[in-house]
Amino acid sequence: MLKWLSSYFSQDLAMDLGTANTLIYMRGKGVVLNEPSVVAINQDTHQVIAVGQEARNIIGRHGQRVVTIRPLKDGVIADFEVTAVMIKYFLAKILRKRQIFRPRLVVAVPTGITSVEKRAVIEAAEQAGARYIHLVEEPMAAAIGAGLPIEKPLGNMVVDIGGGTTEVAIISMFAVAYSESVRVAGDEANEAILRYVQRERQMIISEVLAESVKMRIGSAIAPEVPERIDITGKEILTGIPKTFSVCDEEIREAIKEPISAIVEAVKRALEKTPPDLAADIHDNGFWLAGGGALLKGLDKLLHQSTSLKVNIADDPLTAIARGAGSVIEHVDFYRDVFIN
Ligand SMILES: Nc1ncnc2c1ncn2[C@@H]1O[C@H](COP(=O)(O)OP(=O)(O)OP(=O)(O)O)[C@@H](O)[C@H]1O
Ligand SMILES: [Mg+2]
Repeated sequence: MLKWLSSYFSQDLAMDLGTANTLIYMRGKGVVLNEPSVVAINQDTHQVIAVGQEARNIIGRHGQRVVTIRPLKDGVIADFEVTAVMIKYFLAKILRKRQIFRPRLVVAVPTGITSVEKRAVIEAAEQAGARYIHLVEEPMAAAIGAGLPIEKPLGNMVVDIGGGTTEVAIISMFAVAYSESVRVAGDEANEAILRYVQRERQMIISEVLAESVKMRIGSAIAPEVPERIDITGKEILTGIPKTFSVCDEEIREAIKEPISAIVEAVKRALEKTPPDLAADIHDNGFWLAGGGALLKGLDKLLHQSTSLKVNIADDPLTAIARGAGSVIEHVDFYRDVFIN
């Protein structure tokens, strides 16, 4: 009875605190928040103007006094104060009507995170009002979210391609047996598109537009039907806004480098995997998660480069949050995955 009461009054949450997006999973409810990791601040008054989707909507469209900050970089906290403010706002948003006091929280963090970086995550979450903060590695959460049997003595391989980092991990018996992480993912692809358009077309476009171009016609290998879209930027020479068109082939060329860095990271991980686990991966292939998994043709390119079966996790953008969510739904079973 006591146990039942305590679980009734406390609320367990899991959070995927990502460079691009923050997601929160609530026990018994599923993913209850999914917003960009962005905060808009008035530089003069230090007042927070908007957080999450609202802040992202005003990127590049606000006055000089406002700055939009992405407080995480390469998967870790780059701006502690702003991260704490952001987490606090998100927690308040989902707990508002529920009269919940200091939720227990599981946070997914990159593998190989330093103890200082871990401390920063825990302190930011504490400042935001959470208690009992547990950490789980992102590829572990991704593997659970993809439905892999991570408890078995089997090589389960996942590749989580986010905004800031790509993490490749081989997981067996609740532990990461090998991991490889590169600070190249979706953000780098956006920047590459921006630079390409500047260099080859003498046009300036925003990062938000570069990302939308990537999502609409970006690809890792040529699609069956060529694609072309019109976009508007500023001509470098005159500063005048102009509409011009770009095609899938140009965007593929633009993002060639970041894509090959991701492929190389996967190949390196495979080279370094112990032979028995490698045999399992040979039989079962590996799983892609994170928003980068949605880049058209990336699964096919990885298949061509490794000869392995490549699976895309269901709803790859929420896989990490759902995996961390499974951990709080079945804490006893997943006890060994916590890293602090
Ligand atoms: N349809 C799509 N095609 C290509 N890329 C996409 C698509 N949808 C989302 N992305 C990219 O996925 C990235 C965001 O993925 P995700 O939310 O998994 O990252 P994150 O968890 O916030 O970052 P990290 O794990 O590096 O901290 C962005 O770079 C975004 O551009
Ligand atoms: Mg992520």
